[in-house]
Amino acid sequence: MTQHISSTLLVPEVSAIPRHVAIIMDGNGRWASKRFMPRVAGHSEGLSAVRKIVEECRRLGVEYLTVFAFSSENWRRPPEEVGFLMKLFLKSLKSEVSKLAENDIALKLVGDLSRFDPSIQEMVRSSEELTAACKSLTFTIAANYGGRWDILQAMQGCLRANPNLQAEQVTEELLQPHLAMAYAPEPDLFIRTGGEQRVSNFLLWQLAYTELYFTDVLWPDFDEAQLRQAFEWFGQRERRFGRTSAQLIAQPMSDVA
Ligand code: IPE
Ligand code: IPE
Ligand code: MG
Repeated sequence: MTQHISSTLLVPEVSAIPRHVAIIMDGNGRWASKRFMPRVAGHSEGLSAVRKIVEECRRLGVEYLTVFAFSSENWRRPPEEVGFLMKLFLKSLKSEVSKLAENDIALKLVGDLSRFDPSIQEMVRSSEELTAACKSLTFTIAANYGGRWDILQAMQGCLRANPNLQAEQVTEELLQPHLAMAYAPEPDLFIRTGGEQRVSNFLLWQLAYTELYFTDVLWPDFDEAQLRQAFEWFGQRERRFGRTSAQLIAQPMSDVA
């Protein structure tokens, strides 16, 4: 596996279309409540939005799409809602995976899967295997994921792989391969629907230089046009990575540290 550039060590190349889009799909419950429906109806509807966005990302040439489906803190929700989400997760894995494979989309799961039912763990394993060779888009679902969990498990993995490492010898290069999403470049664009302007323990390490886009649109209403709007906004950002505007004009695609 090639090691991706760390935005704090080297200035990555920038492109008009984000290579990696990370989304916090928020607002399902409010979408349902507004319609006097149970919160869980919003989760079912949210799945249709996921299908649309996956397809549109592939069409627009995004290489990596990562969505936050269930955070390490979402276990705090009422057991009925958690149970519903688990069933929906398993059901949709089963029904969607062959379509992903047909569309050349690789599926990946990140998060602490050990807490999930064995039937889900097995389905995740077989889905990843079935789509492993797909190349058009890598679609990652973050489930029982937490940014702090990720950094800690990466540190543990790093120390396990280098048992004689002294504290001062720990570097980004040694840690990065152990992060859950080491296979992907850092996200270029982060989108959060549902109106909140927070990161809620999503990809804490990886968001260092990501452009952050917040919209009030509730996740089930987020569609292809909404995504293109976010991309337009992204296209207008000046990604300086610590440098000045004048430096960017002089050397727009710098790959120097
Ligand atoms: C996001 O929608 C989906 C999950 C967290 C699983 P919410 O369920 O958080 O919806 P709101 O924020 O309560 O409206
Ligand atoms: C973040 O949404 C997690 C997911 C979308 C899976 P939450 O609804 O759980 O976030 P908070 O609690 O409002 O920060
Ligand atoms: Mg929410």
